[in-house]
Amino acid sequence: MRALITGASSGIGRDIARVLSGMGYDLVLVARRKDRLEELKQTLKTKVEIISLDLSEAENCYALYEQTGEIDVLINNAGFGLFGDFLETDLEEELKMLRVNSQAMHILMKLYLSDFVKRDSGYILNVASAAGFMPGGPLLNTYYATKAYILNLSRGVSRELKKQKSRVVLSVLCPGPVQTEFEAVAGVDFASVGLKSETVARYAIRKLFRGKRVIVPGIIFKLGRLLTKILPDSVLLSAAYIIQAPRRRAVEGKRHA
Ligand SMILES: NC(=O)c1ccc[n+]([C@@H]2O[C@H](COP(=O)([O-])OP(=O)(O)OC[C@H]3O[C@@H](n4cnc5c(N)ncnc54)[C@H](OP(=O)(O)O)[C@@H]3O)[C@@H](O)[C@H]2O)c1
Repeated sequence: MRALITGASSGIGRDIARVLSGMGYDLVLVARRKDRLEELKQTLKTKVEIISLDLSEAENCYALYEQTGEIDVLINNAGFGLFGDFLETDLEEELKMLRVNSQAMHILMKLYLSDFVKRDSGYILNVASAAGFMPGGPLLNTYYATKAYILNLSRGVSRELKKQKSRVVLSVLCPGPVQTEFEAVAGVDFASVGLKSETVARYAIRKLFRGKRVIVPGIIFKLGRLLTKILPDSVLLSAAYIIQAPRRRAVEGKRHA
């Protein structure tokens, strides 16, 4: 049994690697920071292959698929965010985010899913976010949009698989805030409300293997999802702005300290 995990050098990806290795899976770990992947490898008991590459380049995604051989579980997890007013955030960074969060996930999902469907087995977990349930994400606009893309793509393809009576499981993970390096990279501050990444990883893998299609860790965030179904978009957008705005202030405060 072999699992491939993108974004395994920290946070949720690293903890999913620990969970799957604990279950006996050999692993292919992918991220840019090779030293981090090497460090993780030293702590794991199963066989680990390390592939260091930048997933923002489409050709790297194809090359990754070509070099990995048979995989039973794909964890499509690499991603990042960028906080700020739409007109102030860096366009190049946003385009890179589109390529990592949406394009790389899309390419890898399509390539591996095609093999999984042929042999009628396998599991794919795409890591989206609770952000994907929202009608938009003021102050984290591009990030929310990339996560809505992954959530909707996953749900639609998953329905096709169900109609075809495929035994392949395609799930999407939609956590609220999680305590990882995401905050530092994105320039937000939500450590106080974030779930632990080990908790999210364990929960996600348990639900994936039970065939749950949309996975939302934590009761608060399950309730949050319910609210996105019943509240008008205008209320949700105002609430998102009110919730995000102080996160920027807190970060700026820290940066100037
Ligand atoms: N933390 C949260 O609050 C939260 C909530 C909902 C969803 N998520 C999602 O969870 C996933 C994992 O994030 P995290 O919270 O665990 O954050 P994290 O600790 O910052 O981990 C992000 C991972 O993505 C990898 N990555 C980023 N850009 C990459 C690139 N260009 N090429 C290859 N790998 C790249 C990073 O590796 P390198 O830097 O070594 O390349 C790292 O391993 C993301 O998709 C994120 O959007 C996070």
